[in-house]
Amino acid sequence: MQKSDGDIAILAIESSCDETAAAVVVNGRDVRSNVISSQIALHTLYGGVVPEIASRKHIEKINQVINQAMQDAQADWNEIDAIGVTYGPGLVGALLVGVAEAKAISYARGIPLVGVHHIEGHISANYIERPELAPPFLCLVVSGGHTHLVRVIDYGKYEVLGRTRDDAAGEAFDKVARAIGLGYPGGPKIEKAAESGNQEAITFPRPKVADGEYDFSFSGLKSAVLNYLNGCRMKGIEIVQADVAASFQKAVIDVLVEHSMQAVESCGADKFAIAGGVASNGALRRAMEEACQKRGVSFYHPSPILCTDNAAMIGAAAYYEFQSGARSGLDLNAVPNLKLGER
Ligand code: KG4
Ligand code: ZN
Repeated sequence: MQKSDGDIAILAIESSCDETAAAVVVNGRDVRSNVISSQIALHTLYGGVVPEIASRKHIEKINQVINQAMQDAQADWNEIDAIGVTYGPGLVGALLVGVAEAKAISYARGIPLVGVHHIEGHISANYIERPELAPPFLCLVVSGGHTHLVRVIDYGKYEVLGRTRDDAAGEAFDKVARAIGLGYPGGPKIEKAAESGNQEAITFPRPKVADGEYDFSFSGLKSAVLNYLNGCRMKGIEIVQADVAASFQKAVIDVLVEHSMQAVESCGADKFAIAGGVASNGALRRAMEEACQKRGVSFYHPSPILCTDNAAMIGAAAYYEFQSGARSGLDLNAVPNLKLGER
């Protein structure tokens, strides 16, 4: 592997949900390999992620994925300066596979270990393709498990301004997709269906949380869609899948944009980023881009492959943690409900 004096190469491992992933990242932004083994096809059969199946599949795949990442990067073990691994939040059995693997490599090869917060990984995905991006900035993290509006004060230093009180944005996409017969995973399927739909066809609510300016609530919106579908069925009205998808997607995007821009304005932020699986949604990006442009704010978003779960983003986050002196011991454990900013 090409490496200069002082370069820090990190082997990163991610297994918090249904992707087994490994990557080699140099100096936090230079991705030398990014291998992702997705279990989506397997879980599609059950309409969602089955935790026990996810854990088993991670065990089957993890060595293969790591070897591939090392091979793609043409990396030798003695060139790896640290192992970065997601230790939370996520499914405990799934996280444990990555954590145990990382600890085993760290112990056997004497390589330092750095535990990484999954959301910090998603945020750090933004550094990979935009070398000029540095904190402070605001970031909206929208994934299957999380909807967080975060102030990135410095590398590794975060303030959560708002979060969802119930369903995550991606979860709402997945549930609505299932209800209209699009199947799992819902996000990309809703996006596709919405392209040929009319987003003004149905008026769904834009839910607000009374005592939390930046908090989100998506379960009410999901219920409104379910009520609408039931109403149609009872009245014998035809359900136009594309119109439901487009109108639902528009309601989610409106809420995400409004809350984010409120935060941008009140924090006086000049940089705004999105991250997480839902950030790969083209309509969301366009809406955010336009809203940022209007306010003279620079907008950042990772490529779709770096939005959904991957290990390159964990390598980016691990680098900044490593540089700040963070090291994990062999007692590192999976923490399924790990909070951002905790170690
Ligand atoms: O970040 P991610 O891969 O996993 C978590 O950490 O949760 O996000 C997965 C979520 C799923 O809910 C999926 O439906 C959603 O991201 N998603 C999308 C799109 N692609 C993935 N949602 C909306 N539009 C998309 N194009
Ligand atoms: Zn994720």
